[in-house]
Amino acid sequence: MIVDEAFLKSQIRTVPDWPKPGIQFRDVTTIFENPQAWRAVMDSLIHRYMNIEFDRIGALDARGFLMGSTLSYALNKPLILFRKKGKLPYHTVAQDYALEYGTATLEVHADTLQKGDKVILADDLIATGGTLLAASQLVSQLGGQTLEAASIMDLPDLGGSRKLKDAGIPVFSLCEFE
Ligand code: PRP
Ligand code: ADE
Repeated sequence: MIVDEAFLKSQIRTVPDWPKPGIQFRDVTTIFENPQAWRAVMDSLIHRYMNIEFDRIGALDARGFLMGSTLSYALNKPLILFRKKGKLPYHTVAQDYALEYGTATLEVHADTLQKGDKVILADDLIATGGTLLAASQLVSQLGGQTLEAASIMDLPDLGGSRKLKDAGIPVFSLCEFE
C-alpha cells in the first residue's frame, strides 16, 4: 500500500519566497492538518518498514519528529532524536551541515546507539540532503548503519537524494517536486 503521489502532492502547500526570496517552500503542515493525507503517508511508511529488520528510528528536528514518533509507536522500535544544536542535555556528538537556505548543526546523544545498530532515518523533505547526510554521519560516528532515509517529499533538482545515494544511503520518498 502506497499513497497516491498526485493526491499527496495536491495536499502539500507551496509558499513562494519563504524563508528567502527564490525559495519555493513546500509546507508539510497541510498534511498534518489533513487526517486522510497524514494517515496515508504514515500507513505507506509503516507498510514499507514493518517487515524489515532494523533496530532504531532516527527522527530529524523538527518535522521529522512527527514521522519518526509515529513509526516508533507503530513498529515498536526505540526513537532517537537528532536535534538542532544546544537542545540535548547529555553528552552529544555534533555535525555541521549546509541547507538550501543557511547552515546548521545537528546533535545526538552519544549513548543513543549500540555499535552495529541499523537505523531508519525519517524527515519530511530532502532538498540538498545536508540534514539527512549529517544525521547519517552521526549514526556512523557512533558505530551504527543507516539502513534507509525516509521522506515525504524529495526535491531532486537540488541533488540531495543523489548525494545521499552516492554516499551509500538508500532513500525512499513518497513524492517528488521539481
Ligand atoms: C527542513 C526540512 C529538512 C531539511 C531539508 O528543515 O524539514 O529537515 O530542511 O533540507 P536539506 O535536504 O537541504 O538538508 P529545517 O532545517 O528548515 O528545520 P525545521 O524542520 O526545524 O523547520
Ligand atoms: N527545507 C529545505 N528546502 C526546503 C523547501 N524548499 N521547502 C521546505 N523545506 C525545505
